[in-house]
Amino acid sequence: MTASNLVETETSDDAVRFVLDGEIRTIRGVDPNTTVLEYLREELRRTGTKEGCAEGDCGACTVVLGELEGERVRFRAINSCIKFVPTLDGKELFTVESLRAPNGALHPVQQAMVDCHGSQCGFCTPGFVMSLFALYKSETEPSRLRIHDMLAGNLCRCTGYRPIVDAAEQMYGRGGDSAGDWLHEPHAGNGQATSSAEAACVERLRSLQRRGTLALSGPALGGGEHRYFAPTTVDDLANLVQSHPNAYILAGGTDIGLWVTKAHRDLETVIYLGNVGELGRVSTTESAIEIGAAVTITDAYDAIGRHFPDFGELFRRFASPPIRNAATLVGNIANGSPIGDSMPALISLGATLRLRAGAGTREVPLEDFYLAYQKTELAEGEFVESVRIPLTPTGRHFHTYKISKRFDQDISAVCGAFAIELDGGTVRNPRICFGGMAAIPKRASQCEAALEGKEWTESTLPDALAALARDYAPIDDMRATAGYRRAVAHNLLRKFFLETSGFEGETRILGRRR
Ligand SMILES: Cc1cc2nc3c(=O)[nH]c(=O)nc-3n(C[C@H](O)[C@H](O)[C@H](O)COP(=O)(O)OP(=O)(O)OC[C@H]3O[C@@H](n4cnc5c(N)ncnc54)[C@H](O)[C@@H]3O)c2cc1C
Ligand code: FES
Ligand code: FES
Repeated sequence: MTASNLVETETSDDAVRFVLDGEIRTIRGVDPNTTVLEYLREELRRTGTKEGCAEGDCGACTVVLGELEGERVRFRAINSCIKFVPTLDGKELFTVESLRAPNGALHPVQQAMVDCHGSQCGFCTPGFVMSLFALYKSETEPSRLRIHDMLAGNLCRCTGYRPIVDAAEQMYGRGGDSAGDWLHEPHAGNGQATSSAEAACVERLRSLQRRGTLALSGPALGGGEHRYFAPTTVDDLANLVQSHPNAYILAGGTDIGLWVTKAHRDLETVIYLGNVGELGRVSTTESAIEIGAAVTITDAYDAIGRHFPDFGELFRRFASPPIRNAATLVGNIANGSPIGDSMPALISLGATLRLRAGAGTREVPLEDFYLAYQKTELAEGEFVESVRIPLTPTGRHFHTYKISKRFDQDISAVCGAFAIELDGGTVRNPRICFGGMAAIPKRASQCEAALEGKEWTESTLPDALAALARDYAPIDDMRATAGYRRAVAHNLLRKFFLETSGFEGETRILGRRR
């Protein structure tokens, strides 16, 4: 699993090119199953980046990626332990070693950590520093709550978080002994590069953007051959998926990465879709939001949350910032897990998928995409191009709720989503969907039937709750018992009723007393 035959070469379509410490690196012969963490520690001997869990949970391996976004560079923290080296192509990588100035002075983020006593054993510290560095490069006055959210993917077992959060607040004022942000100045937030150093960084990244497909191949350590393709157009992606029906389609890798680091699977042929510009777009019209397969959870939830504020809350609860910065919304959908967070909400909002095979496409309602446990409608040679969320009707009431043991970084025991239209107090077109209650994300069709055409009053609830109990036969597992899941589903319907009916101890229908 090591990166063999690493050489500095000229630009080529069968070599990975990315920026590290301001210099373009070209790598040939890398095993595509190699993670960035392995490459950093074992090939480059940059051991500042640590391995804790190797599954995206602890944040010890956090690094920052700089990516072109128009005329500027966007800086985001990611977990290097589940990121494959070839996906660095065209990007700038920052590790904790990148931060110290050439004269040895500390970066303001590091200086603030020293001044606030934000480190004890130090194992988690490089990861915290890199999460703070991403924040420093992206925002100028984050609130304490925002800082907490941005550090949700970093675990520390000895310092305690208060000094680290203090450092986050103080890092912006660090001139003093520190080197200042010698890498580049913080963004002005106007979409323009703000310093000549950043302009140079933009230029470097531009020179790395390729038009054709990156194609790597080489012997796998365990025998056989590894192949990796990163096309840049949807047409090329479609052709590759058809001509390599057994290939793994790689998006953010936050599920697939663990197949390698935890399940020790050998991914022989991988097709990465993250470089396909057309799939990285969000387009919003009056009637719908369409989100391409390469759009991250961070960007997708941001776009959806502008129309459905509950996605903002769900966003804070979805994994951690480094995972959300890598993971895609379509990857969440395509992996077919019954406990993924996005599906109940998307199904209740009537989302559809555009599937593509070769030159042909077809639309499938998301609720029909799941056939059985981890079995989807996707045919051989087919992939998901985008997901479309309708924005009509306007009078719809929508809420989604995630129930898990912890607030941050936890997988749902139950996730419920409810959408109804109210026609003068009468329920129309209810769409209720739960994750964690069946082998697939599944609508509560009997409960919906019990609500359709009924007054949205407390007297409607007993029938609806009884129908909901018939809709699902949940299982006991490590996250929750079947009984707990049933009780939670029941209570979430009640909660939705209370939040949308204005019920205050006497029957009231959305502003209209009875
Ligand atoms: C620490 C950690 C915390 C997590 N927390 C949460 C959480 O709170 N909530 C939650 O819902 N999930 C969570 N996840 C799971 C994971 O992050 C999500 O499922 C994520 O959205 C997957 O997207 P990805 O782009 O990383 O997919 P990948 O790992 O790249 O792919 C996942 C699967 O989808 C397939 N695929 C991807 N894109 C396509 C496409 N366009 N067409 C066809 N197939 C495709 C891949 O082949 C693969 O089978 C967590 C994961 C980790 C490691
Ligand atoms: S090593 Fe724990 S998140 Fe990567
Ligand atoms: S300082 Fe020891 S784990 Fe954080």
